[in-house]
Amino acid sequence: MNVLRLAPGMGRRLLVAVAAGAAAELAAVGLIGAAAWLITRAAQQPSLAALSVAIVAVRAFATTRGLFRYGERLAGHEVALRAQASARERLYEALVPAGPLGRRGADLLSRMVDDTDAVQDLLVRCLLPAAAAAVTAAAAIAVGAFLLPAAALVLLAGLLVAGVVLPACTAAAARRRSTRLAPARAELAAGVADLVHGAADLAAYGATERALEAAARADARLAALERRQTRANAAALALGTLVQGLTVAAIVLVAQAAGIGQVATAVLALTALVSFEPVLPLAAAGERLAGVMAALRRLREIRATPPAVPGPATPAAPPEGPLTVRVDDLVVRHDPALPPALDGVSLTLPPGRRVAVVGPSGAGKSTLLSALMRTADIESGSIRLNDVDVRDLAPDDVRARMTGLTQDPYVFRASLRDNLRLAGPDAGQEELADAVRRARLETWVERTGWDTTLGEDGRTVSGGQLQRLALARALLHDPEILLLDEPAESLDEPTADALMADLLDATRGRTTLLVTHRLRGLEQVDEIIVLESGRVTQRGHHDTLTTTPGYYHDLWTSETLTAGTR
Ligand SMILES: Nc1ncnc2c1ncn2[C@@H]1O[C@H](COP(=O)(O)OP(=O)(O)OP(=O)(O)O)[C@@H](O)[C@H]1O
Ligand SMILES: [Mg+2]
Repeated sequence: MNVLRLAPGMGRRLLVAVAAGAAAELAAVGLIGAAAWLITRAAQQPSLAALSVAIVAVRAFATTRGLFRYGERLAGHEVALRAQASARERLYEALVPAGPLGRRGADLLSRMVDDTDAVQDLLVRCLLPAAAAAVTAAAAIAVGAFLLPAAALVLLAGLLVAGVVLPACTAAAARRRSTRLAPARAELAAGVADLVHGAADLAAYGATERALEAAARADARLAALERRQTRANAAALALGTLVQGLTVAAIVLVAQAAGIGQVATAVLALTALVSFEPVLPLAAAGERLAGVMAALRRLREIRATPPAVPGPATPAAPPEGPLTVRVDDLVVRHDPALPPALDGVSLTLPPGRRVAVVGPSGAGKSTLLSALMRTADIESGSIRLNDVDVRDLAPDDVRARMTGLTQDPYVFRASLRDNLRLAGPDAGQEELADAVRRARLETWVERTGWDTTLGEDGRTVSGGQLQRLALARALLHDPEILLLDEPAESLDEPTADALMADLLDATRGRTTLLVTHRLRGLEQVDEIIVLESGRVTQRGHHDTLTTTPGYYHDLWTSETLTAGTR
């Protein structure tokens, strides 16, 4: 794997971090070696002049070690944090065109946080320490080879066991466990997300206890796996320390057998001892490396997921002038295993025309709007804007011209004003107030205040208020082709009637596609399309449809009957 691809443009700094890390470890080895020489030599009471070089060396190693360590942390963390930020950015870029995330949200969130952390760990906890350890080990072995080649061989063997064999074992064990750890983590994340977002529904049906127990079980499974992992790590660290002790003891024995003298023996033994310091943590790094590689694989997987609605490689120029939307024989399928949600739908929306779409729940009305907004892909047939197929345009370019109120709007954790401004960043107070008035939301806004925070942790917004807030957004955005999905949903009858009347007034002469369950006022629109099971079963004007047997006639009869009894 190419590390430089993780930290683009940071190659030089990465080198600085490696060099500073190695220098800090070397300074530590030098410090101990020089100190060992100084202490044993001083015990032989030579003249002070004979010790002065070693004294200066000890001081120099002690101070530079701190400086090098500081440099390594600074450069290493800068590279790591930048690499992590760029990994997050690339993940966002991959997710945005993927469209709505649905239930994969919790798992994705954990990938976003944990797996991009892995990029940082790869550099800070695995690669930099391994490079520094390798340099230190090589230097210690060189010192050993200079003093006593046999001792250097012993040291080489000990370092290989602690620095290569043990990390390889921990990495292999972690790889085996990670196939169980990742699903356990994802399961817990999904369970907790359900508990938080579904708290009200769980409480309403007395299901909180059961959901809590399920989450606790997932938590226990994860904890057991993690405990086993921690135990294995501790064992690896203990084994490493044992190898360190045995190696040093063996070196002392070899040195004594060779009779190289006390000073050289002390230097050899202490250099060997300290050369293990950067090598011992590699066992834990090996375990982490397995997790890191799995995380990077998952990130690559997400990035490789084709977006729900792919954009063309080279988008065509958006059409100019007043726009006509032509939908021809459109087929949209959400799930390859299921029948299509839209099956051969055609309609034309010339400039200024208003078309209403009605039909039973699940008929495909929202799917039609999703296809127009390019959040659901087209299986066959076409949608054209002035003869340009929307598949040849950048999805954002399509949405810049054709968008509006979705059925499941979202309130952001932001002020009421900013929640509206989402749809019109440059809108002045006048325009905001106008959109709010047209969405029949002014009383609520006056009561709540423009700067009150809404959304999670903020002021609660009722279903009807949210619907009108979303409608105000759509009106503020004022796209050339306005799409509205059930704008009067979750409102009481009088408000819904008044809102629909206002809306029909406000959209006169504007290209509009309106999905609705309420038929009152629809005599004003140019065409009504009845969708049933993804197919157009009736189309025409209100007056014709009310007198023709079918879904529209039945709905109209029941609506007028209810109105009569009110
Ligand atoms: N993202 C999706 N993934 C899978 N199936 C989906 C998805 N969205 C909608 N469907 C299915 O497609 C069909 C049409 O759904 P759609 O939301 O378009 O209906 P609708 O006419 O808007 O209904 P309602 O009046 O209840 O809003 C339904 O059977 C629905 O279950
Ligand atoms: Mg719908």
